[in-house]
Amino acid sequence: YLPVENVQALSSKKLDNIPSRYIRPEIESDVVSADESLQIPVINVSKLDHEDEQKKLHFACKDWGFFQIINHGVADEVIEKMKTDAQEFFDLPLEEKMVCAQVPGHIEGYGQVFVVSENQKLDWSDMIFLISQPAHLRDMRFWPTKPPSFRETMEKYTTELHKLMIQLMKLIANNLGTDPEMLLSLFENEIQSIKMNYYPPCAEASKVLGASPHSDATALTLLLHANEVEGLQIKRDQKWVPVKPIPGAFTVNVGDVLEILSNGEYKSIEHRAVVDREKERLSIASFHNQKMGTQIGPLPDLVKTNKALYRSIPVEEFRKMKLTSKQDGKFMIRKMKL
Ligand code: SIN
Ligand code: FE2
Repeated sequence: YLPVENVQALSSKKLDNIPSRYIRPEIESDVVSADESLQIPVINVSKLDHEDEQKKLHFACKDWGFFQIINHGVADEVIEKMKTDAQEFFDLPLEEKMVCAQVPGHIEGYGQVFVVSENQKLDWSDMIFLISQPAHLRDMRFWPTKPPSFRETMEKYTTELHKLMIQLMKLIANNLGTDPEMLLSLFENEIQSIKMNYYPPCAEASKVLGASPHSDATALTLLLHANEVEGLQIKRDQKWVPVKPIPGAFTVNVGDVLEILSNGEYKSIEHRAVVDREKERLSIASFHNQKMGTQIGPLPDLVKTNKALYRSIPVEEFRKMKLTSKQDGKFMIRKMKL
C-alpha cells in the first residue's frame, strides 16, 4: 500500500489550489436529488414487536438498503461519549495521532484509506480503523490511549452495537423466512470493526469526495453521524440522495454479505461521502461481519426452491479477496455473482 498525505494537515495549509489527485471531474456531472422529501425509511426499534413495523423493516432492506433507526435502546451517554472521545482523538496534534499509525501489512490504525496505485484519486479524509471483536483479534498497538477513556468507551460502544445488530438480525431472519437460530449462529461471535472517518473542511468541497462510491463488504453497517455536519449520499435510481440524519438515530445499511445471504432479496447500495467547505465532519461506522470459520453464501433455506445467485466461500477467503482487489463500487458482489 502506498502512503498518502495526512488530509487534516493538508486542509490546514489553506492552499488556493488543492492537489489534483483529490479533484474528481466526474462529480460535477453527477445528479444529486433535489427532492428534499425523498428520504430513507425510519424504523422505530421499540415498535418492532408489531407486525407493521416489521414489514417496514423488510421493505427498507429490500427497496432501499438503507434506513435510520430510532428508539434503538443504546444509551445517550454511550453515544455521546463515543462522539467526544473520537473528536478528541482527531483534535490531537498529528504526532500524537501517529502513535496509532497504520503499518505495512496490517489493515488497522490511523491514516488514510488504502491506496494501491500512484494515479488513483484520493479521498478527502483521514480515518482510524480498529477491529473490536472478537477480543483476541484486537491489536492494541493501534488503539488510542488519548483521550484516556478512549478504550473503555470503545468497549462499551461496540458491545451495545453488537447487541443491537443481533436484535435486528433476528427480525431480518423472520422477514426473510429463514431460521433465526441459523442466521444468528453466524453472528454471535462476529467480526466487528470500527472505522472513524474525519473529513476536514475543503475550499474546493464541490470537486472532491470524502469517500469514493462503494458498497460495504459487511453484513450490516451501523453508522453514527458524530457531529452536526451532513455528507452521506446514497445511490438510488441513478441519483445521489443525501441522507438527513435524525439526531440520536443510527443510519443502517445492508452490506454485500447480507445481499448474498438473502440471495439477492436485499440490496447492498452504493454510497459516498461529500465534504463541507467550512466545517469538519465526523462519522463512526460499526461494521458487522460473520464469524471466522463460517461460509458466506445464500442461506440454505432461501435456495431450496430458488436458484442460488451467488457463490459460497469461507469468510477468510472473502476477507482476503476484499483486501487484494481494486476497491471499485460493488466489486465484491460482482466477484460473488454466479
Ligand atoms: C462510508 O460509508 O465510507 C462513510 C460514510 C459516512 O461518512 O457518512
Ligand atoms: Fe460505507
